[in-house]
Amino acid sequence: MEVFEAIKSRRSVRRYRREDVPDELVLKVLEAARWAPSSKNRQPWSFVVVRNPVVKKELAKLAAFGGFLAEAPVVIAVVTDPRASPRFHEVDGSCAVENMMLAAWSLGLGTCWIGTMDREGAKQLLGVPEELNLLTVIPLGYPAEESRAPSRKSLDELVYWERFGQRKSD
Ligand SMILES: Cc1cc2nc3c(=O)[nH]c(=O)nc-3n(C[C@H](O)[C@H](O)[C@H](O)COP(=O)(O)O)c2cc1C
Repeated sequence: MEVFEAIKSRRSVRRYRREDVPDELVLKVLEAARWAPSSKNRQPWSFVVVRNPVVKKELAKLAAFGGFLAEAPVVIAVVTDPRASPRFHEVDGSCAVENMMLAAWSLGLGTCWIGTMDREGAKQLLGVPEELNLLTVIPLGYPAEESRAPSRKSLDELVYWERFGQRKSD
């Protein structure tokens, strides 16, 4: 899929088919994460691939708006290391997640960023060491829904030229 097409057509997916996602595809998605940019190329990230239904159910309980985590065939926890990049580990991790979401979409797979969750609880559940940070958990699976695109602000609203507040026609 062409990059711009993937960027524009990607949707957050909150319902998944039961069909499994082979490790080969999971690794392709993680390969995209591996090539994300990071501050000083520190690559302060690691990933936990979760298929265990009991663990996925527990993760779902920890996510206020992520009950569907239990239904996804795979959940990928994204762990960042504040020691490797104190200022930017979450920014770097977010770059990796966006790469993952776009790569997954181009392979016909859906994902959704899970933001609101008990991240300390999830760390304990997955055995993530105390000194590391759990950025998010990403469900991954074949979409069982066709989501409509939520609207986006127009470029006219978002873009200034040369100085903040200055429109092109000013
Ligand atoms: C930082 C962040 C946190 C999010 N948290 C959640 C969440 O907890 N649950 C959820 O269903 N969607 C979550 N989303 C997905 C957004 O709701 C979604 O990206 C947005 O509505 C735009 O829809 P689209 O991704 O289909 O374009 C989150 C997205 C981001 C970037």
